[in-house]
Amino acid sequence: MTIKIAVLPGDGIGTEIVAEAIKVLEFLNADMALDLVFESGLIGGAAYDAYGTPFPQQTLALTKDADAILLGAVGGYKWESLDISVRPEKGLLGLRSELQLFANLRPAILYPQLADASSLKPEIVSGLDMMIVRELTGGIYFGQPRGVRLLENGEKQGYNTLVYSESEIRRIAHCAFQIAQKRNRRLCSVDKANVLECTELWRQVVTEIGKQYPDVELSHMYVDNAAMQLVRAPKQFDVIVTTNMFGDILSDTAAMLTGSIGMLPSASLDANNKGMYEPIHGSAPDIAGKGIANPLATILSAAMMLRYTFNRSDAAERIEKAVNDALDANIRTADIYSDGMQKVGTAQMGDAVVSGLKWVSAAKEVG
Ligand code: IPM
Ligand code: MG
Repeated sequence: MTIKIAVLPGDGIGTEIVAEAIKVLEFLNADMALDLVFESGLIGGAAYDAYGTPFPQQTLALTKDADAILLGAVGGYKWESLDISVRPEKGLLGLRSELQLFANLRPAILYPQLADASSLKPEIVSGLDMMIVRELTGGIYFGQPRGVRLLENGEKQGYNTLVYSESEIRRIAHCAFQIAQKRNRRLCSVDKANVLECTELWRQVVTEIGKQYPDVELSHMYVDNAAMQLVRAPKQFDVIVTTNMFGDILSDTAAMLTGSIGMLPSASLDANNKGMYEPIHGSAPDIAGKGIANPLATILSAAMMLRYTFNRSDAAERIEKAVNDALDANIRTADIYSDGMQKVGTAQMGDAVVSGLKWVSAAKEVG
C-alpha cells in the first residue's frame, strides 16, 4: 500500500535540510521497497508570500490526506513585522492544532562523538538519553481569551490564558507513561502547581493516571527546579512530561546539553500515531542559502517517522546507524565542527548518510 508523505520545507534552511532527508528516504524507498510517495506544499513565510496566509487551505488538505508530514522550519526576518495573525509561526501552530498533534516527542541524546560540543562538562552530559514529551495543542499557546486590550486609564494590557481540561491532560499523560514503559520506566511531570491552579490540576490528573502504570516511577517537579536540574544533573531524567510552554523552553535547554540543536529530531503525534516530523531547531535565516546547515536533525526526524507512524524500526535503525557512522568518520557540519574533523556542507552530510546506507545494504548482499 502506498504511503503518502506531505513534505513542507517551509522557510530559511528548511528547504536545504528537507532535501537531504528526502535523499535519505528516497534511497531507502528503493532499497527496502517502502512504497513512499512524496508531495510538497507551502507553509510559513513561503506560503504567506504565495497565498497571503502562512497556512493555506491547499496545505491543510495535503496534510490531512497524507499519512505523515515532514517539515523543515518556518519563520525569518522578512516576516517579523507582519501582524501576529499571519506570521509564519501561525502556520505551524495551525497545523499542530488542526491535525490534533497533541503529543510532541523531543528526544535529547548525546552522541559520544560530540561530547566536546556541549557547553557542559563531558562528565555531566556523557551518556545522556532523555525524552521530553511536550503537550502541543493546548495550554497558553491556544487558550482563549487572548489579545491586547485598552484599559480605561488608556493603558494597553496584553493577556493570554493558560487552560487545560482533564481530557487533554489525561491523553498526554497516557502517552508519556507508555513511552516511559518502553524506556527506563521513570517519568517526571513538570508543572508550577505551587502557583498555577491549572497545573495543580495537571499534577492531580497525572498522579491519577499514574495508578494505571505501577511499573513506571512517577515524580513531580516545579518548572524552575526542572530548568536548574537539567543543567545541573541532566542524567537524572528518563522521560519528562510537561505543558506546551514549559516544554518549549525546557526542550531548547535539553537540546543544548547535546552540543548542537542541529542534531535533534522531533515527532508530533495524534491519537492514531499519524505524525508530523521536524527538527527541533528553527529556520536559521542567518545561514539560509549558504548550504552549511546541519541536516542531521531532519534526517533523524525521517527516522522517527519510519519508527512511529510506519512501524518500520528496521528502516529507522538503518538511518540512525548511518548518521552514527558519518560522525564516526569525523564528518561534521560547521555547527558541530572541531579541530581535526572534516568540515562539510549540508548536501555532503546528506550524501555521507546515504553512502552509509549503501554500504550497509552492499554488506548485506555480500554477507
Ligand atoms: C518549537 C518552536 C515553536 C513553538 C515556534 C516556532 C512557534 O519554538 O517548535 O519549539 O514555540 O512551539
Ligand atoms: Mg521552541
